[in-house]
Amino acid sequence: MEVSTSILSIKDNIKEKVKSLKETDTNYIHLDVMDGKFVQNISSYLDIKEELKKTNKKIDIHFMVENVEEYIDNYKDLNPSYITFHLESKFTDKTIDKIKKISKVGISISPNTEIKKLIPYLDKVDLVLLMSVIPGCGGQKFMLKTIDRLKELKLLKEKYNFKIEVDGGINDETIKYVQDADIIVSGSYITNSDNFNEKIKSLISMN
Ligand code: DX5
Ligand code: ZN
Repeated sequence: MEVSTSILSIKDNIKEKVKSLKETDTNYIHLDVMDGKFVQNISSYLDIKEELKKTNKKIDIHFMVENVEEYIDNYKDLNPSYITFHLESKFTDKTIDKIKKISKVGISISPNTEIKKLIPYLDKVDLVLLMSVIPGCGGQKFMLKTIDRLKELKLLKEKYNFKIEVDGGINDETIKYVQDADIIVSGSYITNSDNFNEKIKSLISMN
């Protein structure tokens, strides 16, 4: 299992903290991009792009935006490993093709959307990001319904070829519920601590 650290909940010294992730065992830096429409909050990371370009970590972008295509080009030069958009947002096959020219493509599903709605896209994507909280902000509680949803998704994985990422409310307690994930995203559990790597390692040692 790989770890992706969400930097959404970092409130101060973000450049320095992003820099310090270089020395940790995290596999990815997870960027939560929000437009104030698909979700209420707004976040972009364009102001720390230069710092992000200097990292040795893979970049994992999670768009929580209504109009996906408008946002893709802004993140091209970060050389992301994954760009993930929401099943509940506006996209077409053209959107998927546009992302594929830049990175691997992910589709994210919110907790209240049925897993079977993903089926038409599963042969087109490299990753499914299963939300374990309502999209929009960090520090929420892991939703236990994710356990059954992850099982359902794992069955579909036998037929298609995609990775599973779980995002939201993951800490050293809830990690036990997401052992079938290929990548887990953790934000506040890691970044609210003064020792990021201790928290990252605690997640890795649980699997
Ligand atoms: C929620 C975001 C998550 C979240 C992770 O909308 O997609 O990436 O911020 O943070 P924690 O681990 O604090 O739930
Ligand atoms: Zn996220």
